[in-house]
Amino acid sequence: MIRRMRYPGGKGKTYQHVINLMPPHRVYIETHLGGGAVLRHKRPSFRSIGIDADPKVVSAWRVESAPGIELLYGRAEDFLVNYAFRGDELVYSDPPYHPDTRRRSRVYAYDYSEEDHERLLKILVSLPCMVILSGYANCLYDELLSGWRTRKFSAKTHVDTREETLWFNFEPPRALHDGRYIGDDFRARQTIKRRLQRLQDRVTRMSPIERSAFVRWLNDMYPCEFGSGQR
Ligand SMILES: C[S@@+](CC[C@H](N)C(=O)[O-])C[C@H]1O[C@@H](n2cnc3c(N)ncnc32)[C@H](O)[C@@H]1O
Repeated sequence: MIRRMRYPGGKGKTYQHVINLMPPHRVYIETHLGGGAVLRHKRPSFRSIGIDADPKVVSAWRVESAPGIELLYGRAEDFLVNYAFRGDELVYSDPPYHPDTRRRSRVYAYDYSEEDHERLLKILVSLPCMVILSGYANCLYDELLSGWRTRKFSAKTHVDTREETLWFNFEPPRALHDGRYIGDDFRARQTIKRRLQRLQDRVTRMSPIERSAFVRWLNDMYPCEFGSGQR
Protein backbone atom coordinates (compact mmCIF):
# COMPACT_ATOMS: atom_id res chain seq x y z
CA MET A 1 0.00 0.00 0.00
CA ILE A 2 2.75 2.43 0.96
CA ARG A 3 4.55 1.71 -2.28
CA ARG A 4 1.54 2.97 -4.20
CA MET A 5 1.01 6.10 -2.07
CA ARG A 6 1.83 9.06 -4.29
CA TYR A 7 2.19 12.63 -3.21
CA PRO A 8 2.45 15.84 -5.18
CA GLY A 9 6.15 16.51 -4.68
CA GLY A 10 6.74 12.90 -3.53
CA LYS A 11 10.33 11.77 -4.04
CA GLY A 12 9.41 8.51 -5.81
CA LYS A 13 11.70 9.28 -8.79
CA THR A 14 14.21 11.64 -7.21
CA TYR A 15 15.07 10.08 -3.85
CA GLN A 16 18.61 9.37 -5.14
CA HIS A 17 19.49 13.09 -5.07
CA VAL A 18 18.57 13.36 -1.41
CA ILE A 19 20.34 10.13 -0.42
CA ASN A 20 23.47 11.26 -2.34
CA LEU A 21 23.73 14.23 0.00
CA MET A 22 23.48 12.33 3.28
CA PRO A 23 26.62 12.09 5.42
CA PRO A 24 26.94 9.17 7.84
CA HIS A 25 24.48 9.55 10.72
CA ARG A 26 23.13 7.47 13.58
CA VAL A 27 19.52 8.65 13.77
CA TYR A 28 17.40 9.54 10.75
CA ILE A 29 14.31 11.71 11.19
CA GLU A 30 11.97 12.31 8.23
CA THR A 31 9.57 14.99 9.40
CA HIS A 32 6.99 15.10 6.57
CA LEU A 33 6.71 11.47 5.67
CA GLY A 34 3.97 11.16 3.00
CA GLY A 35 4.92 8.18 0.82
CA GLY A 36 8.41 8.41 2.37
CA ALA A 37 10.31 7.55 -0.83
CA VAL A 38 13.63 8.61 0.71
CA LEU A 39 13.11 6.66 3.92
CA ARG A 40 12.09 3.54 2.00
CA HIS A 41 15.15 3.57 -0.27
CA LYS A 42 17.97 4.66 2.02
CA ARG A 43 20.11 2.26 3.99
CA PRO A 44 18.56 1.96 7.48
CA SER A 45 20.13 3.96 10.30
CA PHE A 46 20.62 2.80 13.87
CA ARG A 47 17.28 4.53 14.49
CA SER A 48 14.74 5.79 11.89
CA ILE A 49 11.78 8.00 12.73
CA GLY A 50 8.98 9.06 10.36
CA ILE A 51 6.43 11.74 11.27
CA ASP A 52 3.28 13.00 9.53
CA ALA A 53 0.40 15.23 10.58
CA ASP A 54 -2.05 13.29 8.43
CA PRO A 55 -3.45 10.31 10.36
CA LYS A 56 -4.21 8.52 7.06
CA VAL A 57 -0.54 8.62 6.11
CA VAL A 58 0.56 7.15 9.43
CA SER A 59 -2.10 4.41 9.42
CA ALA A 60 -1.20 3.46 5.84
CA TRP A 61 2.41 2.94 6.97
CA ARG A 62 1.23 0.94 10.00
CA VAL A 63 -0.95 -1.32 7.81
CA GLU A 64 2.04 -1.92 5.56
CA SER A 65 4.15 -2.57 8.67
CA ALA A 66 7.53 -0.92 8.45
CA PRO A 67 9.97 -2.90 10.60
CA GLY A 68 12.61 -0.79 12.32
CA ILE A 69 10.86 2.50 11.56
CA GLU A 70 9.28 4.46 14.43
CA LEU A 71 6.11 6.04 13.05
CA LEU A 72 4.71 9.10 14.76
CA TYR A 73 1.47 10.91 14.10
CA GLY A 74 1.73 14.64 14.81
CA ARG A 75 3.20 17.92 13.74
CA ALA A 76 6.88 17.99 12.78
CA GLU A 77 7.37 21.25 14.65
CA ASP A 78 6.17 19.78 17.97
CA PHE A 79 8.45 16.79 17.56
CA LEU A 80 11.52 18.86 16.67
CA VAL A 81 11.24 21.30 19.57
CA ASN A 82 10.88 18.46 22.07
CA TYR A 83 13.41 15.91 20.79
CA ALA A 84 16.66 15.53 22.77
CA PHE A 85 19.22 15.94 19.98
CA ARG A 86 22.75 14.54 20.44
CA GLY A 87 24.25 15.93 17.24
CA ASP A 88 24.53 12.68 15.27
CA GLU A 89 21.03 12.95 13.81
CA LEU A 90 20.07 13.78 10.24
CA VAL A 91 16.71 15.53 9.79
CA TYR A 92 15.15 15.48 6.34
CA SER A 93 12.12 17.75 5.78
CA ASP A 94 9.97 17.75 2.67
CA PRO A 95 7.07 20.01 3.68
CA PRO A 96 4.12 20.91 1.42
CA TYR A 97 5.16 23.44 -1.25
CA HIS A 98 5.50 27.08 -0.33
CA PRO A 99 2.34 28.93 -1.53
CA ASP A 100 4.36 31.15 -3.95
CA THR A 101 5.63 28.11 -5.86
CA ARG A 102 2.22 26.44 -6.25
CA ARG A 103 0.46 25.76 -9.50
CA ARG A 104 -2.62 24.42 -7.75
CA SER A 105 -3.94 26.18 -4.68
CA ARG A 106 -4.49 23.16 -2.44
CA VAL A 107 -2.90 19.77 -2.87
CA TYR A 108 -2.57 18.29 0.63
CA ALA A 109 -5.13 17.53 3.32
CA TYR A 110 -2.61 18.99 5.79
CA ASP A 111 -1.20 22.07 4.21
CA TYR A 112 1.24 24.91 5.02
CA SER A 113 0.68 28.67 5.05
CA GLU A 114 3.53 31.19 4.69
CA GLU A 115 3.59 31.43 8.51
CA ASP A 116 3.86 27.65 8.86
CA HIS A 117 6.89 27.64 6.54
CA GLU A 118 8.46 30.45 8.52
CA ARG A 119 7.97 28.62 11.83
CA LEU A 120 9.37 25.35 10.44
CA LEU A 121 12.44 27.03 8.96
CA LYS A 122 13.18 28.90 12.18
CA ILE A 123 13.07 25.60 14.07
CA LEU A 124 15.26 23.82 11.48
CA VAL A 125 17.85 26.59 11.61
CA SER A 126 18.07 26.22 15.40
CA LEU A 127 18.71 22.43 15.40
CA PRO A 128 22.12 21.19 16.61
CA CYS A 129 22.35 18.46 13.96
CA MET A 130 22.51 17.94 10.19
CA VAL A 131 19.41 19.06 8.27
CA ILE A 132 18.31 18.71 4.65
CA LEU A 133 15.21 20.55 3.42
CA SER A 134 13.67 20.15 -0.04
CA GLY A 135 11.37 22.39 -2.08
CA TYR A 136 11.18 24.95 -4.86
CA ALA A 137 13.21 28.16 -4.57
CA ASN A 138 11.29 31.06 -3.02
CA CYS A 139 12.07 34.37 -1.28
CA LEU A 140 11.28 33.25 2.26
CA TYR A 141 13.66 30.28 2.07
CA ASP A 142 16.38 32.47 0.50
CA GLU A 143 16.05 34.89 3.37
CA LEU A 144 15.87 32.47 6.30
CA LEU A 145 18.39 29.96 4.97
CA SER A 146 20.93 32.46 3.66
CA GLY A 147 23.86 30.71 5.38
CA TRP A 148 22.95 27.25 4.08
CA ARG A 149 24.32 25.46 1.03
CA THR A 150 22.10 24.34 -1.84
CA ARG A 151 22.12 21.61 -4.42
CA LYS A 152 19.66 21.66 -7.33
CA PHE A 153 18.26 18.94 -9.55
CA SER A 154 15.60 18.61 -12.26
CA ALA A 155 12.48 16.68 -11.48
CA LYS A 156 9.66 15.67 -13.82
CA THR A 157 6.21 16.83 -12.67
CA HIS A 158 2.96 15.57 -14.23
CA VAL A 159 3.17 18.44 -16.78
CA ASP A 160 6.81 19.38 -17.26
CA THR A 161 10.24 19.49 -15.60
CA ARG A 162 10.98 21.77 -12.65
CA GLU A 163 14.11 22.51 -10.71
CA GLU A 164 14.01 21.38 -7.10
CA THR A 165 16.37 22.65 -4.44
CA LEU A 166 17.93 20.89 -1.49
CA TRP A 167 19.05 23.25 1.28
CA PHE A 168 21.51 21.79 3.80
CA ASN A 169 23.40 23.08 6.82
CA PHE A 170 26.64 21.04 6.60
CA GLU A 171 29.75 20.78 4.42
CA PRO A 172 29.21 18.75 1.23
CA PRO A 173 29.93 15.19 2.41
CA ARG A 174 33.19 13.36 1.60
CA ALA A 175 31.61 10.06 2.66
CA LEU A 176 27.99 9.00 2.23
CA HIS A 177 25.68 7.11 4.54
CA ASP A 178 24.54 5.14 1.50
CA GLY A 179 26.68 5.09 -1.65
CA ARG A 180 24.42 2.87 -3.74
CA TYR A 181 22.91 5.73 -5.77
CA ILE A 182 26.03 7.78 -6.61
CA GLY A 183 25.62 9.53 -9.99
CA ASP A 184 23.41 12.34 -11.25
CA ASP A 185 21.20 10.24 -13.49
CA PHE A 186 20.42 6.65 -14.40
CA ARG A 187 23.23 6.37 -16.97
CA ALA A 188 25.88 7.81 -14.63
CA ARG A 189 24.69 5.51 -11.82
CA GLN A 190 24.99 2.46 -14.08
CA THR A 191 28.52 3.43 -15.18
CA ILE A 192 29.69 3.95 -11.60
CA LYS A 193 28.04 0.71 -10.50
CA ARG A 194 29.82 -1.28 -13.21
CA ARG A 195 33.16 0.36 -12.40
CA LEU A 196 32.80 -0.46 -8.71
CA GLN A 197 31.72 -4.02 -9.49
CA ARG A 198 34.86 -4.58 -11.61
CA LEU A 199 37.00 -3.27 -8.76
CA GLN A 200 35.23 -5.47 -6.22
CA ASP A 201 35.67 -8.52 -8.46
CA ARG A 202 39.42 -7.85 -8.66
CA VAL A 203 39.71 -7.52 -4.88
CA THR A 204 37.71 -10.72 -4.43
CA ARG A 205 40.11 -12.61 -6.73
CA MET A 206 43.20 -11.53 -4.74
CA SER A 207 44.95 -13.97 -2.43
CA PRO A 208 44.51 -13.18 1.30
CA ILE A 209 48.10 -11.88 1.46
CA GLU A 210 47.64 -9.59 -1.53
CA ARG A 211 44.34 -8.36 -0.14
CA SER A 212 45.75 -7.55 3.29
CA ALA A 213 48.62 -5.61 1.64
CA PHE A 214 46.03 -3.75 -0.43
CA VAL A 215 43.87 -2.99 2.62
CA ARG A 216 46.95 -1.68 4.48
CA TRP A 217 47.79 0.58 1.52
CA LEU A 218 44.20 1.91 1.46
CA ASN A 219 44.34 2.58 5.18
CA ASP A 220 47.70 4.42 4.93
CA MET A 221 46.64 6.37 1.87
CA TYR A 222 43.15 7.42 3.04
CA PRO A 223 43.19 7.24 6.87
CA CYS A 224 40.26 9.65 7.26
CA GLU A 225 38.00 7.96 4.75
CA PHE A 226 38.83 4.41 5.65
CA GLY A 227 36.13 2.85 7.83
CA SER A 228 34.44 6.26 8.30
CA GLY A 229 30.89 4.96 7.67
CA GLN A 230 28.76 4.69 10.82
CA ARG A 231 25.29 3.35 11.35
C1 LIG B 1 5.51 16.91 0.11
S1 LIG B 1 4.62 15.70 1.08
C2 LIG B 1 5.94 14.60 1.49
C3 LIG B 1 6.23 13.67 0.35
C4 LIG B 1 7.27 12.61 0.67
N1 LIG B 1 8.62 13.14 0.69
C5 LIG B 1 7.20 11.45 -0.34
O1 LIG B 1 8.23 10.97 -0.84
O2 LIG B 1 6.08 10.99 -0.62
C6 LIG B 1 4.30 16.59 2.55
C7 LIG B 1 3.72 15.78 3.73
O3 LIG B 1 3.74 16.63 4.89
C8 LIG B 1 2.64 16.27 5.70
N2 LIG B 1 2.41 17.39 6.65
C9 LIG B 1 1.72 18.54 6.50
N3 LIG B 1 1.84 19.32 7.59
C10 LIG B 1 2.67 18.66 8.45
C11 LIG B 1 3.21 18.95 9.74
N4 LIG B 1 2.96 20.11 10.36
N5 LIG B 1 4.00 18.04 10.32
C12 LIG B 1 4.29 16.85 9.71
N6 LIG B 1 3.81 16.52 8.50
C13 LIG B 1 3.02 17.42 7.86
C14 LIG B 1 1.52 16.04 4.69
O4 LIG B 1 0.49 15.26 5.29
C15 LIG B 1 2.28 15.32 3.58
O5 LIG B 1 2.24 13.92 3.79
